[in-house]
Amino acid sequence: MEPGSQIDINRLPRHVAIIMDGNGRWAKAHGKPRVFGHRNGVKSVREVTEAAAEIGIQYLTLYAFSTENWNRPATEVNALMSLLVQTIRKEIRTLQENQIRLQTIGDCSRLPKKTAAALEEAIEATRHNERMTLILALNYSAKWEITEATRKIAKHIADASMLPEQITEQTIAEHLNTAGIPDPELLIRTSGETRISNFLLWQIAYSELVFTPVMWPDFRRQHFQEALLDYQHRERRFGKTSDQLSSQNV
Ligand code: FPP
Repeated sequence: MEPGSQIDINRLPRHVAIIMDGNGRWAKAHGKPRVFGHRNGVKSVREVTEAAAEIGIQYLTLYAFSTENWNRPATEVNALMSLLVQTIRKEIRTLQENQIRLQTIGDCSRLPKKTAAALEEAIEATRHNERMTLILALNYSAKWEITEATRKIAKHIADASMLPEQITEQTIAEHLNTAGIPDPELLIRTSGETRISNFLLWQIAYSELVFTPVMWPDFRRQHFQEALLDYQHRERRFGKTSDQLSSQNV
């Protein structure tokens, strides 16, 4: 049976986050330069975004460029940045047609001007769309994000607008880039790597983690649906016992 038909649409995660990995290895396996992998990765971005919106996911976060990615050869970094600009410009109409709102997390002030401008334009144009929010993590690192949040909170303490005792988990969540966005219930990483790589460290405290050997350029709608099924087969206990959960009917 097709995985899509087995998914219970009443038990979908509200937010799915994906570490898109394996573009370089996929290209190498095809005897091509790494950039070929990234270009094909865009097809997966398109298909997964469409699949997520169609099934009713509310937030989809894609790790598109980590702070550590600046260490890659300049040619690859430049190619990734132009690919982003091209893709955003090309897809803005599809985002509108599908009522998808674009957002970013990460330090976008350090992105090339052209990339930042294309992103800003797409964010502004799609801001009223309500079907799904597509969040691109760009120049993102969770440790950076938590450090920034700490700085902002420390300023409230320094100017006496907040007391140390008033800091709660919610205060921290509200100062992260993801303020107002529910935590992802599901995190997927492709390419067989089983690391988190500095992604959404605070937000994934209770997320189900799905690791798949599929390389990102090969990741298709069916793989996304399989990950959703995998998620639905797991029991989310939040520290409770199975008995407590069944008596609560959660
Ligand atoms: C990981 O593969 C992939 C990336 C670091 C970049 C992902 C970017 C895209 C799919 C294209 C642009 C994105 C959007 C949202 C339009 P890797 O290069 O780390 O692969 P490897 O681990 O095999 O070397």
